[in-house]
Amino acid sequence: MIGLKNNFIFAPIKTGYSDKTGVITEKHLIFYEARSKFIGAVTPEPLYIARGLRELPTQIGIDCDDKIEGLKKLTDAIHQFDTKVIAHLNHPGRMANPGIPENYFLSSTDKACEMGGAIPKQMDKDDIQQAISLFSKATIRAEKAGLYIIELQFGHGYLVAQFLSPKVNNRTDGYGGSFENRIKLSLQILDAVKSATDLPIIVRISGDEMIPDGIKLEEMIKFSKILKEKSVEAVHVSAGTVCNIPPWYFQHMFVPKGKTWEFARKIKQEANIPTIYVGQINSEDDVKNLTDNFKADYIAIGRALIADPDFVGK
Ligand SMILES: Cc1cc2nc3c(=O)[nH]c(=O)nc-3n(C[C@H](O)[C@H](O)[C@H](O)COP(=O)(O)O)c2cc1C
Repeated sequence: MIGLKNNFIFAPIKTGYSDKTGVITEKHLIFYEARSKFIGAVTPEPLYIARGLRELPTQIGIDCDDKIEGLKKLTDAIHQFDTKVIAHLNHPGRMANPGIPENYFLSSTDKACEMGGAIPKQMDKDDIQQAISLFSKATIRAEKAGLYIIELQFGHGYLVAQFLSPKVNNRTDGYGGSFENRIKLSLQILDAVKSATDLPIIVRISGDEMIPDGIKLEEMIKFSKILKEKSVEAVHVSAGTVCNIPPWYFQHMFVPKGKTWEFARKIKQEANIPTIYVGQINSEDDVKNLTDNFKADYIAIGRALIADPDFVGK
């Protein structure tokens, strides 16, 4: 157990409540404080790790030391309820927002997402080192700002998933081809973050990308076993990719409820690692089912907590 007062987590969801400088605003403080009272940990949206890697123009940043003061205000507001704060760190790679003029686009490949987006540069060794360094610098800032858990986004079709995915990764160097090569960047980021902090680390993955030739559950079980060996505290199991099949990522109401829970259960059983369940958890029956039948270690909730800040308390 990571040491939360209960096993409910507010899932990372972009709010768009910052201004264009990426700082914490009064709106964030009100929004997250209202949702903190009854839950173990809050994830205040994905924090951009470089200004040119934003998903939204009004996303929260952790790219510079000048963001620490605002983030500290946010963690202080949440800590009054004995609730922890998770730093969700993400490099979007080729899925950075093409509508933001300062953005740049990097990937394992030089091909754009088929569904839209900018043409990325295929990363060379220097680009890879710089990306790793962005994660470790952001981790140091997160710790200074009082965030308590580091969540690394390795799923959902973002940069690390662009290396993991056999569909996207077309490299012929040591980062492409075999499973061992495709997971190399993720493990290098994990090692760098571990050297930067002693805080607990969790990893978000897509249990399955739900597309032909994409990341499959069997590989994610294998991957989760490696994460466990590397002392990752839990895997947060979602599905889909923001490039090809966003409804799975967002858990649109038309995707079957419980499918991602099945992925999480399989990973929990086979890799024997604590697992965070997510996706359309919006009733007391869902929570009972996950607790009694799925033996969920953690339960992450997004939209139900947006709709009703007291959903868990009730
Ligand atoms: C509007 C919106 C934005 C989201 N943004 C992100 C994101 O930036 N990163 C991420 O990992 N998940 C993101 N998610 C996915 C959520 O973390 C969560 O997995 C999803 O909403 C399913 O949980 P729910 O059914 O309880 O809402 C987003 C979801 C929504 C609805």
